[in-house]
Amino acid sequence: MKQITTVREMQQTVDLIRREGRTIGIVPTMGYLHEGHLSLIREAKRNADITVTTIFVNPAQFAPGEDYQRYPRDFNRDIKLVDSAGSDFLFAPTVEEMYPSSFSTYVEVGRITGILEGKFRPAHFRGVTTIVAKLFNTIKPHVAVFGQKDAQQVIVIRQMVHDLNHDIRIIVAPIVREADGLAMSSRNTYLSPEQRKESATIYKSLKRGEQMINEGERNCARIIAEISSYLTSQPSLKIDYVSVADADSLEEYTVIKENSRILISLAVRVGATRLIDNIIVTL
Ligand code: PAJ
Repeated sequence: MKQITTVREMQQTVDLIRREGRTIGIVPTMGYLHEGHLSLIREAKRNADITVTTIFVNPAQFAPGEDYQRYPRDFNRDIKLVDSAGSDFLFAPTVEEMYPSSFSTYVEVGRITGILEGKFRPAHFRGVTTIVAKLFNTIKPHVAVFGQKDAQQVIVIRQMVHDLNHDIRIIVAPIVREADGLAMSSRNTYLSPEQRKESATIYKSLKRGEQMINEGERNCARIIAEISSYLTSQPSLKIDYVSVADADSLEEYTVIKENSRILISLAVRVGATRLIDNIIVTL
């Protein structure tokens, strides 16, 4: 695996790959990798000739007071993991490389960035779409793989790709979970043993929501109340939101429609740690 740190060398490298007629798959990450990230690399390898994994903790998507400074980092461990998953390249630029002092252009998707995560993290998606657009322009991938873990991020990126005419196929990979159901996340490392135990309830609450829908419940307020009561039964969990919405448009339901794909998504705070998770129910 070859490691690249500058935009210029990355662009020259992918130019050559494209001229040889080979396809490129990209897996953007912020590092501190776990099995969820590695599953995306394997998915990219199945869908492109050459895979580029990126590691960049993107300051633009963290608000002041969020965890940018303390976001977990272990670059030497990550290099080995990216290599063992079979990625051909690792692109890991510095902050100065991506955001030189003269930097002043942002990519901002409207509408769907103002709800759910966007309500609690107002500048977050603008940071995500800006860095992802920059990575797309640097690596010029044919396909890009993202995780269903960040359900709204996928929808926002699809909107950007559509609106800006990026000629890139977006692939969404399923959520990889721990044995007790907790979705893998770099931020799980923040949890104390007690908080970690209580966090298993997050997935249990989503499964309960799924079960209610499968048993015929169509009233969203009742589903949200039941999920919320699961979550608040754990002393450390504080709810930011629980949402039942159309899985493609994110439009929130009051009564679930038949023949739809429903996204149940939530965010909780566990002490100072913010965790998100979701499940899709197809009717
Ligand atoms: P990060 O949180 O590092 O996640 C990188 C990718 O891994 C995202 O597409 C995310 O959805 C996926 N992922 C995380 N946990 C997962 C899990 N348990 N199962 C499956 N996939 C999982 O998301 C970001 O970074 C950033 O916003 C980024 C897109 C890199 C832009 O900075």
